[in-house]
Amino acid sequence: MLPGASASSAAAEAGAPTASGVSTASTAATAATAATSARPARSDPSGPVRVALLGYGNVGSAVAELLSTRAAEIATRTGVHFELAGIAVLDLGRPRRSPGAIGPGLFTDDAKPLVERSDVDVVVELIGGLDPARTLVEAALRAGKPVVTANKVLLAQAGGELSDIASANGVDLLYEAAVAGAIPVIRPLRESLAGERVLRVMGIVNGTTNYILTRMTDDGMDYAEALAEAQQLGLAERDPSSDVSGEDAAAKAAILAGLAFGSDVLGTTVAREGITGIRSLDVEHAARLGYVIKLLAIAELVDGGPDVSVRVHPAMVPADHPLASVRGPFNAVFVEGEAAGELMLYGRGAGGAPTASAVLGDLIDAARNLRAGAHAPAPHRRRTSVRPTDDLRSAFYISLDVADRPGVLAAVAAAFGDHAVSIRAMEQDGLGTAARLVFLTHTAREGDVRATLDALAVIDTVVRVGTVLRVIGADDGAPLHVSHGSARSR
Ligand SMILES: NC(=O)c1ccc[n+]([C@@H]2O[C@H](COP(=O)([O-])OP(=O)(O)OC[C@H]3O[C@@H](n4cnc5c(N)ncnc54)[C@H](OP(=O)(O)O)[C@@H]3O)[C@@H](O)[C@H]2O)c1
Repeated sequence: MLPGASASSAAAEAGAPTASGVSTASTAATAATAATSARPARSDPSGPVRVALLGYGNVGSAVAELLSTRAAEIATRTGVHFELAGIAVLDLGRPRRSPGAIGPGLFTDDAKPLVERSDVDVVVELIGGLDPARTLVEAALRAGKPVVTANKVLLAQAGGELSDIASANGVDLLYEAAVAGAIPVIRPLRESLAGERVLRVMGIVNGTTNYILTRMTDDGMDYAEALAEAQQLGLAERDPSSDVSGEDAAAKAAILAGLAFGSDVLGTTVAREGITGIRSLDVEHAARLGYVIKLLAIAELVDGGPDVSVRVHPAMVPADHPLASVRGPFNAVFVEGEAAGELMLYGRGAGGAPTASAVLGDLIDAARNLRAGAHAPAPHRRRTSVRPTDDLRSAFYISLDVADRPGVLAAVAAAFGDHAVSIRAMEQDGLGTAARLVFLTHTAREGDVRATLDALAVIDTVVRVGTVLRVIGADDGAPLHVSHGSARSR
């Protein structure tokens, strides 16, 4: 609703045609009472495609703006003419920026009748969260209407069931914007790589954490400082916990695992670690060793499959790996395929306009499919077991705060040896009472590394077990030359 407009003034404007021919709430009101059952076949397949927009926040308002200001251009380029049939919001009284031809009469705070209206062809869900998004998406699909959504929480929790409902009703459920915003990731995985045996998908899929880690790496900021700056710039929420804890990335990892491997993994069950424990010293050590710390969402086949691993954690990425160069709020998804080899998709992972661009791409697909009486293939699904992280193998970076006393190294080395974790490199920082030991291990079983950490924690000269990070792409064959305070590959 426009600033100052009330719900009643919006209702009074119902029926007023707008400059772009966008229909208003009078059509809405009439149709809402007329049709709550399944959508009849489109009477004029070449006519406009009418869109119900659920949510008018960051992304929803950007989608509405694109639809209203670029309708003619989109029609020329794609042959599809979109019309906004209605916009559902939570609070009709909230002041709104309504660009272009979006009349206040389009707004409603009752989403369900809008979804079921007979003059609505496609539903775009941009409310977010589980409820009522799930009920509304289900209602739309059951009414035979394609749905476009950017809702990773919903897809990570109920994507499989919703895909089944979409397939059963012969309509699209498209969600390119749910992972990595503007970057085409879903369509390439679902279509371009449909014949590929994907081995691993590894993504930087959270712009907030990548911004924080980039500032820590490039500018020596500590975590709190970098987070405060991200919040100031609007790159982090006031409550950043979903981002910094890895929860947001875990939902995206679950979606990627579903696409790449057909796994029905719930976002809430994905093993995750966030970035709150990363210290400036870790970033410095990583740089000296030739690595950059990144928060990664990983879905991969374990030992060639069929078991998979789906997880989110910060990792040391070799400085020359393509993911290491993904900086600031940018996102990237790195895919390794058996025949295709390695490829990386890179771009803006969030923000109203970039995300709206991905939504619009899906809308155009959905409209074309609707016209053709077709729908996009649902991702193939199969029962997969997710390997517990303890059974995975990786090289590790381990930092220990120790008392700098004779014998400390021997005790520490024994703890590693007792659990079959072999040390590839070691570095010592500081002298006197507060020394820091940093280890790089050879590839080891994660369960053995955990047991080593437990043993280290009870050594009396170990003051604290600090940061523990997996190391991506560590080459066991290339021993590191390590000296006091520095390390380099040999
Ligand atoms: N923002 C991004 O950069 C980004 C990137 C990728 C994906 N996404 C996803 O896109 C979706 C939308 O995100 P956003 O940032 O645009 O969210 P947002 O700014 O919080 O907007 C949410 C919108 O939903 C409306 N809403 C809430 N409850 C509703 C209800 N019960 N019925 C009808 N409308 C309701 C709100 O109405 P009021 O305006 O009245 O409060 C608001 O307009 C989420 O799933 C998000 O994960 C966002």
